[in-house]
Amino acid sequence: MSKIKIAIVGVGNCFSSLYQGLEYYKNSDEDNIPGVMWANIGGYRPSDIEVVAAYDVDVRKVGKPVGEAIFQLPNCARVFQAKVPKGPTVQMGHVLDGLSTYMQEQPKELGFRLSKAKPVDIVKSLEESKADIIINYLPVGSQQATEFYAQAAIDAGVAFLNCIPVFIASNPKWEQKFIDAKLPIIGDDMRSQLGASVLSQVLQELAFDRGLDVDFHQQLNIGGNTDFNNMMVQSRLASKKKSKENVIRAQNDIRGIPVKEHSLFAGPSTYLPYLKDNKVAYFNLRLRGFGNAPIDIDVKLSVQDSENSAGVVIDAIRYLKVAKELGVVGALRGPSAWTQKTPPQQMMYADAKKECEALANRKLTNSVKNIT
Ligand SMILES: NC(=O)c1ccc[n+]([C@@H]2O[C@H](COP(=O)([O-])OP(=O)(O)OC[C@H]3O[C@@H](n4cnc5c(N)ncnc54)[C@H](O)[C@@H]3O)[C@@H](O)[C@H]2O)c1
Repeated sequence: MSKIKIAIVGVGNCFSSLYQGLEYYKNSDEDNIPGVMWANIGGYRPSDIEVVAAYDVDVRKVGKPVGEAIFQLPNCARVFQAKVPKGPTVQMGHVLDGLSTYMQEQPKELGFRLSKAKPVDIVKSLEESKADIIINYLPVGSQQATEFYAQAAIDAGVAFLNCIPVFIASNPKWEQKFIDAKLPIIGDDMRSQLGASVLSQVLQELAFDRGLDVDFHQQLNIGGNTDFNNMMVQSRLASKKKSKENVIRAQNDIRGIPVKEHSLFAGPSTYLPYLKDNKVAYFNLRLRGFGNAPIDIDVKLSVQDSENSAGVVIDAIRYLKVAKELGVVGALRGPSAWTQKTPPQQMMYADAKKECEALANRKLTNSVKNIT
């Protein structure tokens, strides 16, 4: 198989874990790779992914090879693969609304520092790199910057993987632009391999499948990486809270069960720097069963946030490549529902999995609407 060439926007913690993972799994040719959901997607293995371009705006990353840039402050993702290839040099991106004033005023180990380098022509650079897919890892709240890079992807003929809660794949106007350009897209806002979102989803599904009434579902998230720090600015946070609640609300909507007033909270709750990339989520579900009997569930989940995210991105990249080869365009329904919090179409867990398995076997289903 040919390589899947990827370009990166935002050389932060999530990309650090992904890049380390590409090296960590480079010789894994088993049918089941421990830690990876699917070893083989349409003939592609994790080792088929190659990073060909990367863009950032932080002075500590721009101008360095990605293999060095991923280990620079303020990144704090766990180092599980210290030896990585140098890779391409990080190029200066277009800052737009990517960096908040708050993050630039934070101590240097917790915040961002703007590079004075001249931004490159992203479309030209993408064309020269021959990238198949561009991955958006910008900070939450980067509306203009995300739209800028999404448009650059369209102009350069590159598929888009939108890992952040700026609504592109789930926005019909943006989806149409990708359809017109004959490109596939997955989005929006990735849900981790085993993170708070998928756990909340299956708990909500379990309650409904067992005939229970859900009075209250709370998911509090605490973390210490730059993503959590960036979301201390309330105006940047709104889309993330909406996206997290979408995951739970969707399971009511799919079944036609109204969400009761004040019965749902899911969102980043605070930033504790000592946690670094360890995210801790606390769940409380208050349910009522047979005879109106109360049932309470309390769960604590503790994960490495960025590695957990790389565990779905390594699959989403391969779904996009297979879709591109099959001529499927627009937002991929099944893979978006499986790997993202706010897809264009929410699905039940089992249905999203089935859709992904079909595409992994190069079979097209009803939810794959648009074929060139
Ligand atoms: N499990 C997870 O970690 C998870 C899950 C879902 C979504 N996300 C989202 O993924 C995104 C990336 O997360 P992260 O932890 O890697 O964040 P991060 O803060 O570590 O990295 C963001 C990077 O983007 C760079 N950047 C800022 N503005 C830019 C611009 N205009 N052009 C190019 N680069 C720019 C920053 O310098 C930084 O290197 C966040 O929006 C986060 O909410 C993460």
